[in-house]
Order: sequence, then C-alpha cells, then structure tokens
Amino acid sequence: MTVHFIGAGPGAADLITVRGRDLIGRCPVCLYAGSLVPKALLDHCPPGARIVDTAPMSLDEIVAECQRATDAGEDVARLHSGDLSIWSALGEQVRRLDELGIPYTVTPGVPSFAAVAAALGQELTLPELAQTVVLTRTSGRASAMPSGEDLKAYAATGATLAIHLSIHVLDKIVAELVPFYGADCPVAVAYRASWPDERIVRATLGTIVAEVGKSPMERTALILVGRVLSARDFRNSALYDVAYQRRFRGRDQ
Ligand SMILES: C[S@@+](CC[C@H](N)C(=O)[O-])C[C@H]1O[C@@H](n2cnc3c(N)ncnc32)[C@H](O)[C@@H]1O
Repeated sequence: MTVHFIGAGPGAADLITVRGRDLIGRCPVCLYAGSLVPKALLDHCPPGARIVDTAPMSLDEIVAECQRATDAGEDVARLHSGDLSIWSALGEQVRRLDELGIPYTVTPGVPSFAAVAAALGQELTLPELAQTVVLTRTSGRASAMPSGEDLKAYAATGATLAIHLSIHVLDKIVAELVPFYGADCPVAVAYRASWPDERIVRATLGTIVAEVGKSPMERTALILVGRVLSARDFRNSALYDVAYQRRFRGRDQ
C-alpha cells in the first residue's frame, strides 16, 4: 500500500494534473493540508472515502494516519498546496515513511509562483534582462533563514525574485531591495492567485507598500520583483529567430 503525495496546485480546482486527480479518485483515504487546498478537489474522492484535514494535526498524528491506512490495505492521497518541491513539509513526511518502510509516490503540482506569473500574463525570464528566478522567503517565527541565504545576496544578482511567505514584512523587503533594483523597479503582489478572491496589485518598489496598504493582504500572497515585470524593449529569444532556426534547429534543442 502506498502514500501518494500530490501537488494540489495554487487554488483553482482544475489546476491539478490529470495524474493527481486520478490518484485522488482511486484512494480510499485522503489527507489534505487545510485551507490552502481547494475543497472542490475532495469531490474527486471515491464515495465513502475517509477525508482528513491535517491542518490541526502534528507530524506524528499524520504519520499515524498513513500507517493505519496502509496497515489496513488502503492507499492514501496526501494533498499539499502548489507543488511539493517547495515549502510543502514533504521532506519530513517521507523521512518518516522511509523509516517505517511505507512506500510513497510524488506527483508534482502547479506552484504558486507559476500561477501568479500566469495571472500577470508574464514570462519571468526575458533575454538579456533576467535569466534566473529566485524562489525564496524571509525568516518566519518557525523557520530562520540559513546563513548565506540573504535577500540582499540574491538582489545583488538582479534576478527576478519570487518571495513567498513574507507579505507581512513587505516594508522590510522593499527597504532591502531598493538599493539594488531602484525605487522604480516593478513589483507585483498576488493574493490567492487562481482562487475566486484573487487580487493582484502592480506597483513599483517605491509605491507598493502604500498600494497594498489600501486593502491589506494577509498570508497567502506572493511578491514578485524584477525588471521583467514591465519590460517591453527586450530582444527576441533565439527560439523563433529564423537565422538561428536554419543553423541550429535539430542540433541543440
Ligand atoms: C507554505 S507555502 C506553499 C508553497 C507551495 N508549495 C507552492 O508550490 O507554491 C505558502 C506560500 O506560498 C505562496 N502561495 C501559495 N498559494 C498562493 C496563491 N494561490 N497565490 C499567491 N501566493 C500563494 C504564498 O507566499 C504563501 O505564503
């Protein structure tokens, strides 16, 4: 019996992979991570499924649910918001499953930064402007940043920044970034991207705090910073360049 970890996507119930949806439909037990997983996804559970919100549970209790189910011969669908590769608590759960000899699979999901970029209708990398996206956060009550993982260090590269879990310190982030990106650098803050109550605020580093302050956002918001957000005069990529196609197509995809 197997625990299937499934990326549930950023919020809209149809932003889940077909594989993830089908796994939910096959598992008699579904553990889902509280308010960030859309309840409509639970409609895919088979009739009579045991459905458990793990938001108030400890790691021990979650692992015990997995063990009880697999001992009873039941597969488990374990849903986490977005994708499992970032801030999902996958690591600590699979470590425990490994210790117990319980098999698991991992099915990716649409991460929130991708959903925010889609809501903005933007590419986060543009030729010669930014070729790197930094997925990061700031220190929280529960988790300090490892030494060296410093917002200023990332800012010094000029990369596009996708700052998670940090809307409550937006003013501090702005103060750290202005010396590197300039007060006129575009910023987008997206609250609950792809949910029905999605809100997007576009501004600059100089104005974003005031703009967001007009209708404050809590918790589920992502901060994107970078010149790509308003760029228009970037050069085309080589991908659809006719000369490039003639010389290289088929050789180095
Ligand atoms: C615990 S992390 C989960 C990240 C998730 N695993 C992912 O792939 O994006 C929660 C943070 O992700 C961001 N986030 C998650 N869903 C979001 C959404 N729909 N819109 C904006 N930001 C979101 C916010 O920064 C939030 O504080």
